[in-house]
Amino acid sequence: MSQTHTQDRSAEASLAQARARSARLEATFIEDPAGYRVLTGDRPTGPLHLGHYFGTLRNRVRLQNLGVPTMVLVADYQTITDRQSPSSLPRDVEELVADYLAVGIDPARTPIFAHSQVPELNQLMVPFLSLVSVPELERNPTVKEELAASGLQVASGLLFTYPVHQAADILFCRANVVPVGKDQLPHLEMTRVIARRFNQRYSPRQPFFPEPEALLSDVPLLLGTDGQKMSKSRTNAVAIGATEEQTARLIRAAKTDSDRRITYDPIKRPEVSNLVLLAALCLERDPHEVADDIGDGGAAGLKRVLTEAVNERLRPIRARRTALIQERGYLREVLNAGARTAGAIATETLGSVRRLMHTSY
Ligand code: TRP
Repeated sequence: MSQTHTQDRSAEASLAQARARSARLEATFIEDPAGYRVLTGDRPTGPLHLGHYFGTLRNRVRLQNLGVPTMVLVADYQTITDRQSPSSLPRDVEELVADYLAVGIDPARTPIFAHSQVPELNQLMVPFLSLVSVPELERNPTVKEELAASGLQVASGLLFTYPVHQAADILFCRANVVPVGKDQLPHLEMTRVIARRFNQRYSPRQPFFPEPEALLSDVPLLLGTDGQKMSKSRTNAVAIGATEEQTARLIRAAKTDSDRRITYDPIKRPEVSNLVLLAALCLERDPHEVADDIGDGGAAGLKRVLTEAVNERLRPIRARRTALIQERGYLREVLNAGARTAGAIATETLGSVRRLMHTSY
């Protein structure tokens, strides 16, 4: 068997395992919300879109509202893995915070903070780097994909070691659940390895770090309006903060096919089915039923239904977002308060790490 074949097979097997673990986890949140600590984050590289909303944001709000302690990270240091930090960063970060608050993340319960605001979190990178080998870093498929997507010839040291930085993001608050897309599973595996090795080496009797679990979304992967991967940089996704007009325009230009009869058949008709699925998610209905209702309405009918469904669903969120974005001082305050909470936790963790590592003098 070829090497790529073997890799595909083992990636599939670990994806199946991760899905099974996610399903088991889901069942326990309601019984014991306080037994978990969730950390997730996003890069501040552009507005969040419907893929984020249905893939993860909605789920974060649900966990928060179930009483699961949750923290949200603005991964600003990740943006410099493959580019210089642009002067638009402060604005991008504010927009991201506005997206979070508009969808229902409540900063009083769920601290929101940025990497660069919490030095003690970043400090964990030093011991963590000592626990992984260069070949392990070289094998990470997500880093390879990100390098390819960046258009750069070679990886920066930070991109190469980014999975270790992400382990610091997760372990600084000893999170045990990380809601992520499946592209992030290799990073999560690295985090688990680091936690395990740290415990073996420095705290063998009583594990200090948990080995966090991925929580995968049960929503099938949404495609962009061009049928490609939905992406902030491809302008093929409806931003949460887009206007109704922009939404209509993007959907009008969406790729479809020439069959007038609308059906939900993701394998044979990926583009049309993706639009049907998006409408169904917005309407909280079954995609087959949505397709049946449109029937012979063709692409035009489908797009009309979808535009209305998206705009309807996002209307209250957008209204909140529009108000929030005027309040830049408040958005900064949210971040600074989140950073104070995260900083206190990171300081405590770093203190324990130093004691365990015999570097506390
Ligand atoms: N790497 C994630 C992404 O590219 C963002 C991220 C950074 C993250 N740190 C994290 C996600 C910690 C979950 C937990 O989207």
